[in-house]
Amino acid sequence: MKKMLIAGNWKMNTNAYEASELAKAIVTGTMNEKMNTKILICPPFINIPAVSEIVSTGQVMLGAQNCFSQPSGAYTGEISIPMLQYYKCDYIIIGHSERRQYFHETNETVNIKLKAIINSNLNAIVCIGESLEERQNGQTFAVLEKQIKEGLMNVDSSFASQIVIAYEPIWAIGTGMSANTEQVQEAHSFIREQLKVLFGDKANDMIIQYGGSVKPENALSILELPDVNGALIGGASLKADSFLSIIKIANELLSD
Ligand code: 13P
Repeated sequence: MKKMLIAGNWKMNTNAYEASELAKAIVTGTMNEKMNTKILICPPFINIPAVSEIVSTGQVMLGAQNCFSQPSGAYTGEISIPMLQYYKCDYIIIGHSERRQYFHETNETVNIKLKAIINSNLNAIVCIGESLEERQNGQTFAVLEKQIKEGLMNVDSSFASQIVIAYEPIWAIGTGMSANTEQVQEAHSFIREQLKVLFGDKANDMIIQYGGSVKPENALSILELPDVNGALIGGASLKADSFLSIIKIANELLSD
C-alpha cells in the first residue's frame, strides 16, 4: 500500500500564540477520523515546546526545520537533536533550499546532519531540488543525482526507513506555480532510481514528498502520482483549513 506523509513547514512564521492556535486546529480537525496518512507539523524552534503539548493528544507528529549535528557544547545559537527529542520531535527537515541559499547549508553539512539524526533514531526529511536556471539548462537530473549522492553518502541501507526525500524545485517554492504533474512524476521516479542504487529494494518503500506551491486545488493531481508519497507544504500549511483539506485528500486517496 502507498505510504503518505503530509507535512507542514511553517518556516519563520507564527508567534507562540498563533502556533498554538494553528496546532490546536490541526489536531482537532484530524481527531475523529482514522488517518491513513501520516501528518507532521514543523513549527519554528521557539514554538516547539508549546506545540509539543498540543500534539501529544492527537494523530499529528512534530518536527523541526533544522538542527545542529553535535549533541551539546559551545555552539552559540544552535539547537541540538537531544533538545528536540526532549519535546518528542519525530522528524527534522535538513537541506531546505532556503537554508542552502541563505545559511550556507551544503550537501556535505546535510550528510553530517543526516547521520546525526538517523543515529539518534529520528527521521530526516532531506530536501533537494533544482533552480530555474538549472532546469532551463537541462541540469535537473544531474543536480538531483549530486544532491542525493553527496547528501546520503555512506549511509547504510538499514537506515532507509528513517529517510524521507522532499523534492522541492526551487522555482516552485512560494511562487504559486507548482511543477506540472509530468515534471513531478519524472523527477520522483528518477529520485527513486537513485535511491535504489544506494539502498536496493528498500527504496520502493521510501517516502518521496513533493514540495512547492502545494494547495488544496492541486493536491489531488500531485498526490495521486505513482512515485509521490505526500507533500511538504509551506504557505498552505499556515491556514488550518487549507492544510486540513490537503490531509483529507491524501487520506481519501489511501482509503480507495
Ligand atoms: P510553499 O508551499 O509555500 O511553496 O513552500 C514549499 C516549501 O518550501 C516547503 O518546505
